[in-house]
Amino acid sequence: MAGKKKLIIANWKMNPGKEKDALTLFVAVKEEAALRQNIQTVICPPFPFISVLKKNVSGRKCSIGAQNMHWEVNGAYTGEISSAMLLDYGIKYVLVGHSERRAFGETDEMVNKKLLAALRRGMSPVLLVGETERDSAGAFFNVVRDQITRAFEGAPRHLLKNIVLVYEPVWAISSHAALPCSPENILEMHIFIKKVLNDLLGSVAAGRLPILYGGSVNPENAGGIIAESGVTGFVVGNASLDTRKFARILEIADKMKPLAL
Ligand code: 13P
Repeated sequence: MAGKKKLIIANWKMNPGKEKDALTLFVAVKEEAALRQNIQTVICPPFPFISVLKKNVSGRKCSIGAQNMHWEVNGAYTGEISSAMLLDYGIKYVLVGHSERRAFGETDEMVNKKLLAALRRGMSPVLLVGETERDSAGAFFNVVRDQITRAFEGAPRHLLKNIVLVYEPVWAISSHAALPCSPENILEMHIFIKKVLNDLLGSVAAGRLPILYGGSVNPENAGGIIAESGVTGFVVGNASLDTRKFARILEIADKMKPLAL
């Protein structure tokens, strides 16, 4: 785990189109990440770039993660990537349950299988949860609680500490909206998620899980979100493709003290 460090994860999604651009971006980000004392940076590139980027990793502050994986180790699963393949590249962090994968039909049951597989293989699953839309009655809280409860089913107690949880409301992702979730709303959900985890795992195990935020994070809002909502890191999509913006997010997050909950 990242210990007391903040965790900043770049989800490049299906970008950039060429290996040479991926390498240029990675090398620039890696140099920025090396300057930050209190940050662990993880870059999740498209699968075809993992091999070349891995060869360019230096030091421990910036590592490579994966955007997805199948729960089986090998076999007849066309188009899928296994934990064994990721581990062969020394990959530890893997995104699980991103809304863009749920939109392709990934169910809570599949998310659960992926989370368990990652844990059992000694990896750190980065579980993303979040409502598609908000309603005035607050039913979106139940959506998040159910996603967490189903994803954690059967997770071995001694491996819980390896999970990273991300609140990423779908409506706040930059491809859906121009506005992120407000720090007040993130704080409210952060408190709710902590209560869900306390009920599910007990306060000791729950207290160990890092809770991050994702959705239109940029240099303008990053500081306020950490200071006012208490999250200890981000998953960054669009802004992670722009070296200057991402470097600025790392710099801001490095200095900010998260609100203590
Ligand atoms: P944006 O930062 O582009 O909103 O993407 C967030 C995201 O989906 C990260 O997983």
